Amino acid sequence: MLTLVVLFLTTCQLVPETEPSARGSIPCLPRLPFLGSLPWLGGGLPPHLLFTQMSHRYGPLFGLYLGPHYTVVINSHQHAREVLMQKGKDFAGRPSMVTTNLLTRGGKDIAFSDYTPLWKYHRRLVHNSFTLFGEGTTRLQDIVLSEVDSLCVELLSSEKQGFDPSSAVTRAVTNIICTLVFSATYRHGDAELQEVIQYNNGIVETIARGGLVDIYPWLKVFPNKSLSKLKKCITIRDQLLTRKLQEHKLSRSDGDPCDLLDALLKGQTSGQGQKSSESKDDGITDDHVLMTAAEAFGAGVETTSTTLLWILAYLLHHPEVQERVQKELDEHVGSERTVTISDRGQLPYLNSVINEGMRIRPVSPVLIPHTAMTNSSIGGHAVSQGTRVLVNMWSIHHDPHHWDKPDLFNPERFLDHHGQQVTPSSFLPFGAGPRVCVGKSLARLELFLFLSSLLQRMSFRVPRGAPLPNLQGRLGVVLQPLPFKVVVIPRAGWEDGGK
Ligand code: HEM
Repeated sequence: MLTLVVLFLTTCQLVPETEPSARGSIPCLPRLPFLGSLPWLGGGLPPHLLFTQMSHRYGPLFGLYLGPHYTVVINSHQHAREVLMQKGKDFAGRPSMVTTNLLTRGGKDIAFSDYTPLWKYHRRLVHNSFTLFGEGTTRLQDIVLSEVDSLCVELLSSEKQGFDPSSAVTRAVTNIICTLVFSATYRHGDAELQEVIQYNNGIVETIARGGLVDIYPWLKVFPNKSLSKLKKCITIRDQLLTRKLQEHKLSRSDGDPCDLLDALLKGQTSGQGQKSSESKDDGITDDHVLMTAAEAFGAGVETTSTTLLWILAYLLHHPEVQERVQKELDEHVGSERTVTISDRGQLPYLNSVINEGMRIRPVSPVLIPHTAMTNSSIGGHAVSQGTRVLVNMWSIHHDPHHWDKPDLFNPERFLDHHGQQVTPSSFLPFGAGPRVCVGKSLARLELFLFLSSLLQRMSFRVPRGAPLPNLQGRLGVVLQPLPFKVVVIPRAGWEDGGK
């Protein structure tokens, strides 16, 4: 009975919510009161595959109702570029959702905050602090290389019968973020590092299960195991980060910031970071500082480590690609010295392998939902303020009109006839425009340094009798490969494990 009453009340409130006439021009899935188009979104396929399938029927641009929320799904790179770049500001908003509000104290982060002047300042602050580590200094590279070395040592001394590389890779990437955010470097097995990895995993798992409560926020009043677990993990995360923040406040100096927390604390007291009497905002608060630090883990660990694992999985399927990367490394770097970022221009094939990995298995296949900040248009069709927009990067990265045999792993598609790198316009693994990934340069640096050093020092094979990795993957917060095992074979000069 209660369900029926709730259903009736919500239906009455929500269906007439908005229905501007222009919407009719974008083909739309059928919908029912209250449920919206949800009954047509079943079938067990993850959203990126379902939307790709639907684009064959409805065209590359279609609408649907996630419960009461009108949502436009984009499946072509022309529309994606229009929304992300040409009209980037119009579509730079983010929807407010129960799980992400919990995670970010109501959008005090970068990824889930709406597009406001404070957000712009906040984003610039984070961006500058990353470049501060990178540009004109080798500090960022040194931090990454130190973890690369540890990972290589660990892999080279690993179980000869085969092992799952995922926890070692995740640990290495987590450690880099710990150094960047609060200058901590942990040894393998450190209790605090384990704590960070555990709560991060917990958050990732529960967010991935999220779902209905983000469509019908009132569901949060009912007992919800996932939401309780999420709250618990967030509490542990916040205790640790608050401790780090207090330590940073006590040890602050006037010099250059030493990590992200330091940079944000400095940003609090300068320029737009201060509380403003004219605008209503409180400037960059401690909540903003904490949520940004938390987000560096949420956005920077799973994405980068999963991309590395996908590339590894494809290299196991394509030993000829692995050999060609190693040949390129042998010719341009050799085995005597560490590969550094200055070698990047000399290693176009390796760069193409990284790009092809991100094309064929984009870890964030529908990006993060955008919303229209104002009345605007897509492909000539009017779109009203508040409309949610999902960019299906999977479909764009597998569009047969732009990619020859899109399901084939073929790094050469990123090279021209002279072996020089090319970047097709349908390739946008980090998004684009005002909401482009803030960690793009850091991620690219990490992917390059990890893969080049790993393949310089070792080869990867499937253990005898074991199956090749499953390439379908499963969608959690990111699209990840199912667990797989590898055997590591040291290359000439690295037989002692590189210790
Ligand atoms: C291979 C690694 C990575 C991939 C493929 C990736 C991809 C993406 C994508 C697709 C978006 C959404 C863009 C949109 O909504 O239009 C995004 C946003 C974001 N990423 Fe990354 N990312 C990676 C690594 C990182 C790292 C290392 C960090 C930071 C430490 C980071 C921080 C962020 C943040 C803060 C946002 C939100 C930006 C905003 O809303 O303005 N990412 N990323």
